[in-house]
Amino acid sequence: MSVSNKGALIYQAIFPDEAQPTGNCMKSDLDTFMARDEFLIGHQKMDLIHEEFYELLTQLSRSTQADAAAALMALIVHCKDHFGQEDRWMRETQYNGRDCHIKEHGEVLASLEDVHSRLVNGDHRALPHLIEALTNWFPGHVQHLDSSLAQWLAKQQWNAHPLVLRRGAVPARPADH
Ligand SMILES: [Fe+2]
Ligand SMILES: [Fe+2]
Repeated sequence: MSVSNKGALIYQAIFPDEAQPTGNCMKSDLDTFMARDEFLIGHQKMDLIHEEFYELLTQLSRSTQADAAAALMALIVHCKDHFGQEDRWMRETQYNGRDCHIKEHGEVLASLEDVHSRLVNGDHRALPHLIEALTNWFPGHVQHLDSSLAQWLAKQQWNAHPLVLRRGAVPARPADH
């Protein structure tokens, strides 16, 4: 699968055939991904904004019909800021991989706005699919596209690789003498 197709796949995943909702629940894979610090890519602003994305997606997954539209709007506001910031970094530094990455952001945001307009019209069927699609999409996006961007930015700024310290990581053995 090419990277540039991932955003389109998200959109398709949200509206498979207007299937019945399967319930608002997040897969534990994303919880594990966050708990193990696998989301950390060594760029402090991106790491923080990715934690915020996870928190807002968690809130959306726990929302009721009464507050789902507000929870989704909070995620949309976040994503406009989150994606907008990354897009600016890519454009300002003439990052080579920017076209695919910016396109994926745009497609995800379009999906969020589409589902929000459905919610405000009383149609909640797409929401569980959106939550599932975002839950599946986020780790790969962070570990591939955002991580590559973090490496590029560190190289631009310090001519260095990002340093990532993860909770629970196994420390290196001391050298034998
Ligand atoms: Fe990101
Ligand atoms: Fe991104």
